[in-house]
Amino acid sequence: MRIIQISDSHISTDTPQRLADLERCVTAVNEQGPDLVIHTGDIAHDASVEEYRLARDVLEQLQAPWYVMPGNRDDRNRLVEIFHDKLSMHEGFIQYTLDEYPVRLLLIDTLSTMSNKGALCEVRMQHIQQVFSENGPTPLMVFMHHTPFEVTEIPDPFQFEDWSAVEQLLEIFTGCKELRAVYCGHVHRNVATRINNLPISAITCMACDLRKGKIPDEERQRPSYKVIDC
Ligand SMILES: [Fe+2]
Repeated sequence: MRIIQISDSHISTDTPQRLADLERCVTAVNEQGPDLVIHTGDIAHDASVEEYRLARDVLEQLQAPWYVMPGNRDDRNRLVEIFHDKLSMHEGFIQYTLDEYPVRLLLIDTLSTMSNKGALCEVRMQHIQQVFSENGPTPLMVFMHHTPFEVTEIPDPFQFEDWSAVEQLLEIFTGCKELRAVYCGHVHRNVATRINNLPISAITCMACDLRKGKIPDEERQRPSYKVIDC
């Protein structure tokens, strides 16, 4: 099975180039022949209906089934309005599992209405706990917008409001031997680490103008996506 992760398209009516970046990315992803594509959030930059419609029109060109989840720039209600058939809900959050594949996928909603940092409230944590406790022997993968690890390359390495929630999350993650990996976006650079041998990574943004870090020009312009063969 081939999953492709894409992230942070930041579609903006003020920066039309980002739509072209997304289009190039969709073309490149189709060439890789995935079974499934997951967009790990920050679909639109200002979360307007117009931006979401523009993004959706391009994402519709994906040949594989595709799903979305929220990033900090997204608006939960608008996302549900425009992408209702590309996501599922749990008690008001865009947090859900995809169970029809050989690997079970959990998409975690880390959106906070208070800040750009990630948040995990009681409702979301309980749902995550439930998913893990009922999982059984099925391999599992997690997708979430914010990085639940210290990204030392950026000025503020901690991208959650409450780091104790992350510690709780990591305890669940590392206690599950079926969990294969965790895939994130948000930090606009490619980073990867291991926590107790669990691979956790983030991919850079599809929006070329927002890529961070010292990277060669050629890499700055390349379509960003992550191929996950499992
Ligand atoms: Fe973000």
